[in-house]
Amino acid sequence: MFSRLTLASASVAAVSVWLAWSPSTSWQEQHFSDEPFSWPDSLRYLDKAGSQGITLKTIVAGPNPAESKGVVLFVHGFPETAASWKEYILHYAAAGYHVLAPDMRNVNNSMAESGTLCFDLLSDDLLSLVTSTGHDKAIVVGHDWGAVISWVFALRFPARTQALVVMAVPHPELYRSYNVVRLPFSVTHVWYFLFWGLTGPLARWKAAKDDFAWFISFAFGSSRPKTYSKEMIKRLKEVYARTYQSDTHCPLSTWYWMGNEWLLKSVLPPSVLGPGIINSLWTDGQTPSIVPTLQLFGSDDIYVSPGMAGWSADSMYVAHPSKRTVVYDASHWLLHEKTAEILQEMDAFIQSSP
Ligand SMILES: *[C@@H]1O[C@H](CO)[C@@H](O)[C@H](O)[C@H]1NC(C)=O
Repeated sequence: MFSRLTLASASVAAVSVWLAWSPSTSWQEQHFSDEPFSWPDSLRYLDKAGSQGITLKTIVAGPNPAESKGVVLFVHGFPETAASWKEYILHYAAAGYHVLAPDMRNVNNSMAESGTLCFDLLSDDLLSLVTSTGHDKAIVVGHDWGAVISWVFALRFPARTQALVVMAVPHPELYRSYNVVRLPFSVTHVWYFLFWGLTGPLARWKAAKDDFAWFISFAFGSSRPKTYSKEMIKRLKEVYARTYQSDTHCPLSTWYWMGNEWLLKSVLPPSVLGPGIINSLWTDGQTPSIVPTLQLFGSDDIYVSPGMAGWSADSMYVAHPSKRTVVYDASHWLLHEKTAEILQEMDAFIQSSP
């Protein structure tokens, strides 16, 4: 009894110390570059309708849809914004594609009226964007959370997906089962999921504390040196500072609450979970992708276990003959660290896919 109590108080004390602690920020001086922020005039933010009345602030570039070679849709991850795709947008716009990159629901200026998110709703947002172009299909490219939503889009709407390119996240069912089945080992890769999604104001307070000292260290400390500029980090902090007090709009809470529902759906009865979380997948069982699918991973990803890459192209997850997985010597932020290599890989994949 005594020892159990001691253990409990020791844990509470350790968590309290961790919550109160902020890492030094001096490493940021070296780690982030001094590159000034520059934004080409050709990349404009336009208001685009998502689903259920939301306006998504969307970067639009390249020729008009009717004169273009096709549509490419870029879906950013957490805690980034559509601006993270700058180099990619410029590349595909110059190659003759009509390019769209939305700030997703609750991110930056794409504020939703309700903070409740689910995979169906977010992939419906993407469908609205694709439909607005007048094209049947789009090449859908996602990173991190954007990769999850891109997967769901391709699984629900294969006829609207010309090709799927996903970075850092495998098929959602692989991610879910790998993490849930391998608990407690996977806790090292998903503890922040639980912390951000389940502790609401506490997680947001910890994230914003001391000018986001811990959050920036946790989120971007693993990126290769000079991947991000100080200016970009400052802009991201501004975006997060705007909503960190809001239970209903801060992406830290709303996106990760959704994430918890997703992971827990396999271990809890449906009656305790909200509707709409990847319903289409759960009712159809393990729907594989039936479109050309390119998957890109970083070998030093600290958030998504790189071990998943080995299973990623299994026919359970990708049933189209045109499929490829590449693992780069990179962190979770491979889209910035390996831009030239990835663009080359994507170009080749798109050209070789029917
Ligand atoms: C937020 O969105 C505005 C346009 O709505 C854009 O000018 C700004 O660069 C965005 N911030 C980030 C960090 O992407």
